[in-house]
Amino acid sequence: MAKLKTTFFCQNCGAQSARWIGKCPSCGEWNTYVEEVIQREEKGKGMISFSGSDKARKPTAIGEITFDTDQRIDLQNEELNRVLGSGLVPGSITLIGGEPGIGKSTLMLQVALHCDKLKVLYISGEESAQQLRMRGERIGIKNENCYIFTETNTQVIFQHIEVLQPGLVIIDSIQTLHTDNIDSSAGSISQIKECASEMQRFSKITNIPVFLIGHITKDGSLAGPKILEHMVDTVLNFEGDRNYGYRILRSVKNRFGSTSELGIFEMQDTGLREVSNPSEILLSQRDEEVSGIAISATIEGLRPMLIETQALVSSAAYGMPQRSSTGFDAKRLNMLLAVLEKRCGFRLGAKDVFLNIAGGIKVDDPAIDLAVVAAVLSSNEDIPIDTKTCFAAEVGLSGEIRAINRIEQRISEAEKMGFERIFISRYNQKGLDTKKFAIRIIPAKKIGELYALLFTQL
Ligand code: TYD
Ligand code: MG
Repeated sequence: MAKLKTTFFCQNCGAQSARWIGKCPSCGEWNTYVEEVIQREEKGKGMISFSGSDKARKPTAIGEITFDTDQRIDLQNEELNRVLGSGLVPGSITLIGGEPGIGKSTLMLQVALHCDKLKVLYISGEESAQQLRMRGERIGIKNENCYIFTETNTQVIFQHIEVLQPGLVIIDSIQTLHTDNIDSSAGSISQIKECASEMQRFSKITNIPVFLIGHITKDGSLAGPKILEHMVDTVLNFEGDRNYGYRILRSVKNRFGSTSELGIFEMQDTGLREVSNPSEILLSQRDEEVSGIAISATIEGLRPMLIETQALVSSAAYGMPQRSSTGFDAKRLNMLLAVLEKRCGFRLGAKDVFLNIAGGIKVDDPAIDLAVVAAVLSSNEDIPIDTKTCFAAEVGLSGEIRAINRIEQRISEAEKMGFERIFISRYNQKGLDTKKFAIRIIPAKKIGELYALLFTQL
């Protein structure tokens, strides 16, 4: 028997090496190299076959290539369509990554079951057909043309696709697929790469769009999706806190649209509900004014939304004060607290500070700084902030309140949501037509000024 050819692959980033090495020179991770068999069978044997053979195709001058501008496929899901850039492009390959249990299978099955104009083939290597049917019952079956196939071998999958001729193929998940062309086990880096490239060739030749589901775990033990990013057309990340209902679908790479779009969903008993008005996340049930709460007018992707930040400042019971934050960068919180301490003279050094963003979502927008500061001050003083007040500005290292982008959009959203006052940076006032807003716009330059306006004058 011929000697098997093997190579070592980094399970974290996919780098290759002829011998085992302890530390990956590419990503710097330790002990991630695993030996994998990469020997291919003789050419021709076990090759994928699908209609629209390569022979018919030849190089074409770019001007002669025809395309249809409104060819995009409507997936009957506003949020998903939006993230993809107003629908799915035929022949495109999209990777949906996310931690296990976040709802990737639910989202894709929902697309398969609700897209009643399409024949969809859902290939599952993780769940049985019965389990999928049960899940389908919860979500509601609208598409009689949704086919379920539990198979992991790509050659078998292609044979069935040829017979069924679906308009959309969903693979759940890429880590469970294996191809006969490579000997290593399913889920290994070389298998994932080869299966994805077979899928990519398939979608490009047949013009059938493909969704690939890929797991990412926090410790990166199941690699894969990272090494596929350059192969696919679109990479979407499904994220959120499993303990909360809200999920955000972000586009990380999109060859056919903007990467700043995002879709928001809420996990319910009957599947994922589209959240078309994201500010509803903020509307936490609260009848009375409580200290430590401030509303921020943020923009995630291209969408303005109002988010509630909650802070709790209390005297540290045990020597070392604690700082903890959920949904907001802990380092940034420490920085803001240092600014409050050093530049504004608030004695927070011996206090515990806890910060929480309502709804379990993560916010990167720097415009939330001012609301964080306001919430911390409000809790520290134990004076509630008026519920009709919101904030939108960044805070700099010297305690200055800095301008942020797209201020008008934020102000309009706050106005639309019924807010009566918005604090912004004085530097944002330039060119801002305040007359067109009914909401009161209060500019401030320094944290000290904000403090005076909030707790001594209002
Ligand atoms: P799932 O799609 O299996 O996650 P993934 O494929 O990303 O691993 O979804 C997992 C969770 O979603 C599971 O904990 C149950 C929950 N869920 C609901 O809350 N409502 C529903 O209607 C469905 C189908 C699932
Ligand atoms: Mg799943």
